[in-house]
Amino acid sequence: MPIEKVGVVGCGLMGSGIAQVAAQAGFPVIVREVSAQLVDKGLASIEKNLGRLVEKGALAPADRDEIRGRLRGTTGLDDLQSCDLIIEAIVEQLPAKRELWGSLDKVCAKSTIFASNTSSLSITEMASFTQRPDRFLGLHLFNPVPAMKLVEVIRTIATDPKVFEEALAFAAKLGKTAVRTTDRTGFIVNRLLVPYLLDAVRALEEGVASVEDIDNSMKLGCGYPMGPLTLLDFVGLDTTYYIANIMFDEFKEKRFASPPLLKRMVLAGWHGRKTGRGFYDYSDPKTPKPMQLS
Ligand SMILES: NC(=O)c1ccc[n+]([C@@H]2O[C@H](COP(=O)([O-])OP(=O)(O)OC[C@H]3O[C@@H](n4cnc5c(N)ncnc54)[C@H](O)[C@@H]3O)[C@@H](O)[C@H]2O)c1
Repeated sequence: MPIEKVGVVGCGLMGSGIAQVAAQAGFPVIVREVSAQLVDKGLASIEKNLGRLVEKGALAPADRDEIRGRLRGTTGLDDLQSCDLIIEAIVEQLPAKRELWGSLDKVCAKSTIFASNTSSLSITEMASFTQRPDRFLGLHLFNPVPAMKLVEVIRTIATDPKVFEEALAFAAKLGKTAVRTTDRTGFIVNRLLVPYLLDAVRALEEGVASVEDIDNSMKLGCGYPMGPLTLLDFVGLDTTYYIANIMFDEFKEKRFASPPLLKRMVLAGWHGRKTGRGFYDYSDPKTPKPMQLS
């Protein structure tokens, strides 16, 4: 059965981006959040992004209205009943995902494909919370979703090859480039990226250089589009902290261990751009100021 209607669970950084690109690709999308306030916040961020595209002349106002018309927000899980594909983008914590998948499995049709956007949790373990491991896979998109071209499509040993092919076709309809990978914690990108980001925090912690100098070094010395500490603020320090813990737990390797500074910043509620403070202060979002963290 072709994928026609898409459900997205979570409308934070990733969920809002996923809902946006799916609606832009022509799919009717229902996006679920835990409160009406968060539904409104998520939809408002999509509205803002679409507005920017119209201002730049990249999207006609009539097309924006059509895209908006394809998007619906909800707080009720039952509204996801008729979706052909559910993409989950909630907080990177297994207990929350376990509860969600267990409930969705009861609500959705047996044919619905379940996909997690997790960065580091085991797809196989999540599939085991449902009665449909053959219709369960990973669809790992990147932040900011409208701009980033890659999707890691992740199969487990139980994923039906036809479902895997349908997911690859869906990724192509989103206008993304898919890479195929298997269910190993961190998949391809985070396996390589996370140790690098954590090392940047360790370098700061050990007094190697300042926030700005670490970022400038990787930008100007290696040609990266942004420095690691800026990237961490984009990704979310809470999300990175959860990912590091999960990867450390899996591999028991020091390179995946969360540096104490990262933990302290998360405990302080400094989660990066989304909370206004991380390695930079975003009081004026156009000119972030490096934080004094030692
Ligand atoms: N931030 C990134 O760069 C990035 C990149 C790729 C993948 N991911 C993954 O995407 C997922 C979401 O990350 P994020 O950065 O968007 O986090 P986020 O904190 O911005 O958003 C998570 C949202 O999920 C909502 N939520 C929690 N439980 C829910 C539930 N039961 N039903 C509906 N909504 C619920 C929260 O209210 C929150 O708005 C995580 O699994 C993360 O690992 C993140």
